Amino acid sequence: MAIILQESSKTFSEYLLLPNLTTKICLPHNVNLRTPISKFKKGESSSITLNIPFSSAIMQSVSDHNLAITLARQGGISFIYQSQSIESQAKMVRKVKNFKAGFVRSDSNLKPNSTLQDVKILTQKTGHTTIAITDNGTATGKLSGILTSRDFRMDNCDWDTSVSEVMTPFKDLIYSRNNITLQEANELIWKHKLNSLPILDKDGNLLYLVFRKDFNEHMQNPNELIDTEKRLIVGAGINTRDFKERVPALVEAGVDIICIDSSDGFSEWQKDTIVYVKKNYGDTLLIGAGNVVDKEGFDYLANAGTDFIKVGIGGGSICITREQKGIGRGQASAVIDVANARNEYFKKTSEYIPICSDGGIVHDYHIVLALAMGADFVMMGRYFARFDESPSKRLRIQGSYVKEYWGEGSERALNIERYSFGSEENLSFEEGVDVYIPYAGKLKDNLHLSLSKIKSTMCNCGAANIKELQKKARITPVSYTTIREGAAHDVTLKEKDITPVS
Ligand code: IMP
Repeated sequence: MAIILQESSKTFSEYLLLPNLTTKICLPHNVNLRTPISKFKKGESSSITLNIPFSSAIMQSVSDHNLAITLARQGGISFIYQSQSIESQAKMVRKVKNFKAGFVRSDSNLKPNSTLQDVKILTQKTGHTTIAITDNGTATGKLSGILTSRDFRMDNCDWDTSVSEVMTPFKDLIYSRNNITLQEANELIWKHKLNSLPILDKDGNLLYLVFRKDFNEHMQNPNELIDTEKRLIVGAGINTRDFKERVPALVEAGVDIICIDSSDGFSEWQKDTIVYVKKNYGDTLLIGAGNVVDKEGFDYLANAGTDFIKVGIGGGSICITREQKGIGRGQASAVIDVANARNEYFKKTSEYIPICSDGGIVHDYHIVLALAMGADFVMMGRYFARFDESPSKRLRIQGSYVKEYWGEGSERALNIERYSFGSEENLSFEEGVDVYIPYAGKLKDNLHLSLSKIKSTMCNCGAANIKELQKKARITPVSYTTIREGAAHDVTLKEKDITPVS
């Protein structure tokens, strides 16, 4: 007869945190959210430590190079989606590794013999008034000069004048070579009263422009997640089919950590993939695996040699795996069980394997619960897909802005490698849906709000860091009526557009 567990599985919404004594030094700005992402031995530390416990999901509608750059600049990590060709995924990884904050590719470029009429058309299109004049009119051509709106009068000029007659020519430009930091570029900008500083390679080809107006914004990211060469850290998804080709290409592109993208990680294919990576790259390449929901799955992947383990089946906002196949477990129960297994494993082997709670985060306090229950960091899809920086389209529907979001198991993503077994080629049924979610604006603004809520909750729990939270937190299951009591109740909420009756 089947083994039947007696406890029903629970989700985050079925728990609340009880307050502990808040000491006077436990203030939100003193809360440290640094957390390990990869395996380490007792007394040592993880080779990558996240500055905030956030990672973005391995999904087409979530993690491309753009989101990866924005999130790493705030201290978290993205895993760039693997349901694309090896070449295009490696290209995205390269873009993150080559990103230099404040160094931008010029998007408005013309040739010396272009006319002011061309300038007018271009500035209307881009909205930018600094134009790089290069020999071939591209962003990386040999720099001939710079033209700005201060070089000619829009209300009084001959539109047929050639750009070379009015631009600041190369011989009068202040420029720099590529081995300069943003701080140094900014010094030059102030010293010479420039609006922008061109950065050139040794042959005089334009690489980037650094703008005066961007400096402050770029200096405001003290949490940036960077490697020893000050490049942003980035992860990438892989699968258990083409890993022998995909992994070398990602390593070549500079990836820092990879993660097997699968709806069910308790499989021999995952073990083979981990063993291959560890045999060929040892500890120079970190690999995560999953997803699992219990001790059995954790132990299997831990023994296979993985560096971190992802937890969660069926809890994702776009996921229909539980409905389609009846496989899964409430996210809170899965995290609690796997965290216990991880702690036991640590006691036995002195090796700490971080775990990531993946999917099902709806409220910011769910993140605190996940961490308190033993997760080292969380992975989120819906949360990040709502922002400007995610790759999906923003649309206006019935007067409200929304973003598109679709599951990797949907017909749209066709991520066959994540869902099928072994060499099975087709996605015979869907395990995810294709939806709209409310648009939320910029990642940085939303993240700051989430972080302040998380830190504030942690202070209520008397915890100034994640380890302390895990030791001290007291968590209680809640009844349905307790949940109802927690929202505004027995009152009439005011609608914003009601006009008072005098
Ligand atoms: P969310 O943060 O609740 O939106 O969940 C995101 C997580 O759902 C991802 O990190 C994946 O683990 C999982 N996921 C992504 N696509 C699908 C799908 O199509 N079906 C089931 N789960 C999915």
